[in-house]
Amino acid sequence: MGATEGSRLGKHTSTTRDGGHGKPVSTAPPQGFLERYARISSLDYPVPEHGRTPAYTLGGISFVGFVLLFATGVLLQQFFDPAPERAYASVEHLGKTVPGGAWLRAFHYWAAQAVVVTLLLHLARVFVGGVYKAPRTLTWFAGVALLATALFGSYFTGTVLKWDQESFDALMHYREGLKLLGPLGTFLGSTEAVSLNVKLFASHVTLLPLLLVLLLAAHFYLVHVHNLSPLPFGKDSTLAALPPDRMTGTFMEHTRSILLYAAIYYGLVGVLAWAVPAPLGAPVTGEEMSIKPPWPFLWLYGIENLTGRMDTMMHAIAALLILLALAPLLDRGIDRHPARRKGTMAVGAAVLLAIVGFSLYAAIAPPQLHHHEHMDMEMDMTAPAAMPHPEEPTHDDTGHPHSP
Ligand code: HEM
Repeated sequence: MGATEGSRLGKHTSTTRDGGHGKPVSTAPPQGFLERYARISSLDYPVPEHGRTPAYTLGGISFVGFVLLFATGVLLQQFFDPAPERAYASVEHLGKTVPGGAWLRAFHYWAAQAVVVTLLLHLARVFVGGVYKAPRTLTWFAGVALLATALFGSYFTGTVLKWDQESFDALMHYREGLKLLGPLGTFLGSTEAVSLNVKLFASHVTLLPLLLVLLLAAHFYLVHVHNLSPLPFGKDSTLAALPPDRMTGTFMEHTRSILLYAAIYYGLVGVLAWAVPAPLGAPVTGEEMSIKPPWPFLWLYGIENLTGRMDTMMHAIAALLILLALAPLLDRGIDRHPARRKGTMAVGAAVLLAIVGFSLYAAIAPPQLHHHEHMDMEMDMTAPAAMPHPEEPTHDDTGHPHSP
């Protein structure tokens, strides 16, 4: 059980007399630095007891993963050269000659996979529990934006940086995606002054983390004001929030559980990173090859294989995000019990099955070459990277030197 209301609010102020000596002795708990200067006890507000269970700590575990990715990313950045003609060599150098470099890169790589896993499980938990319903609809919208930014922004740009054949293939798809954005895509895809992979690196380390932090701030604020949702079973499934007398846990206990599970989870990731290095494929040749994408994007590769058109991948991403965003508008009753939301559960299961099905098909099917030559006619991506010195050879997107 949690702390008493008094200790939660940090209001122990009474004093007593030490037997015989008459000196006043304070019964207040010793105030640590954080309590004195940051009122840390104000975070110890009541939350439902189930806040300590793994299902209700998945968001927090994902957040700890972001912090670890940020920390290891800052270290990686000291050794990574984003210029297309040097990126691959700098990644190789880090892995082969910098002490601990291979582990650092592998940890960043595996932690990214681990965060995608907990993020998807977190999404599944809130979807099955109908937590997108009022009053938590805005929390859900912020979550959908977080998913889009984390997966199709941060994770995707991360796969391009190492600049091997897989990265090249990813960049080709990115260029195709930009075309669907019209003039904005032309602007984002322009390589007038800076090559495209340097732009993606800049987004990976500045714009996207900033966006994530802003969205996380909104998400956490909303989680705080609405508190954790009641369980979606029994009579509580129609309650927007538990009554105060049933909030028998505390936020600090919830946080401690998150930290405990996260320590175990990312500890295992650390061991995995030691045992299995992060992959680095063949250097870019400038030719497209038949390479399958990382597992979170396999379903999209499967769709592209079957339709033979790359824009169908972009439409599939848009359809998924729109469907998620529409969930609270389509499923409007107050009951969150999954058994009484059969239609929603059926649509959710169908989408999940389709994604798993396309992924399995893509994993089993032989690698297939997807041609993208036609794009060059519409967007000039071969301009030199950042302001070359007059005597220096410049390079194109593929890292191949060519004369100015
Ligand atoms: C960047 C990724 C995300 C992080 C770090 C994150 C973090 C969190 C945290 C810490 C909580 C408190 C409860 C818990 O730990 O489970 C939470 C709750 C919530 N999240 Fe997320 N979240 C993320 C993405 C998402 C996504 C993708 C969705 C859905 C589309 C979502 C929807 C919600 C909702 C509706 C709640 C309220 C849950 C409740 O009251 O039971 N979040 N999130």
